[in-house]
Amino acid sequence: MTLALELLELATRIARDAGALAHQRRQEGVTVAATKSAAADIVTAADREVEAFIRAELARERPEDGFFGEESAAAEGQSGITWVVDPIDGTVNYAYGIPAWAVSIAAVEGPADTASWTALAGVVFNPVTNELFRASRGGGAWLGEQRLSVTSDVGEAGGLVATGFGYDPATHAPALEQLSRVMPVARDVRRIGAASLDLASVAAGRMDAYYERGTNPWDHAAGALLVSEAGGMLGGAPGGRPGKGMVIAAGAEFFPVLDAILDY
Ligand code: IPD
Repeated sequence: MTLALELLELATRIARDAGALAHQRRQEGVTVAATKSAAADIVTAADREVEAFIRAELARERPEDGFFGEESAAAEGQSGITWVVDPIDGTVNYAYGIPAWAVSIAAVEGPADTASWTALAGVVFNPVTNELFRASRGGGAWLGEQRLSVTSDVGEAGGLVATGFGYDPATHAPALEQLSRVMPVARDVRRIGAASLDLASVAAGRMDAYYERGTNPWDHAAGALLVSEAGGMLGGAPGGRPGKGMVIAAGAEFFPVLDAILDY
């Protein structure tokens, strides 16, 4: 078995267990534990518990690897592999009981930096719908037995475009201005509230595109691999790669249209 497939197998097992734990905690009731970058940027006790669970499982199975997660301090490893983890992506949905949140786990090679890493394996698991999206480098993107591919032709109506607005109020006015430029090429827009699921939706052909400014590496590491393995294009900033400055994902035909319009 290749290293990428080995990492994918481990990520899949841990994501399923972590998702079951998060789902159980959701059913028991959710309380907000703290706010982070803004009043709307919340963390629940479950986010912390689920990340601690994932981290402990990874440390047990692959003690030489690094860790880069949303809720705890990053740690460098010695193996060249780093795990990039969002225990609950879509925390606001989770807190409100909206069934659009996911466990996102990626294994990347190289520096723990979106500008230079190479993703080897990625899993996005929504425990409410029981959908587990997975991809390994060179091995395609999959939902169960179904191989995923992005849409190719958005047609005259334009693309169905997913986006998000982030938590920083200072970015909202420019984001709305950007959205007004996207609308003429969009059939419609969706703001689902979990970047990892937006990217998984692009990979699965449920959306034609996704873009967002201000996301963190753990929001898009696994989802970006899903999109590229499903034949999609990725871009953004810094460095023309998905990053804090911008993430764009779409099929080859629609990508350049969106990329030019966004003008980030
Ligand atoms: C958030 C979600 C949301 C996106 C935010 C992210 P979190 O992740 O992915 O869709 O708009 O930028 O921070 O905080 O729920 O893990």
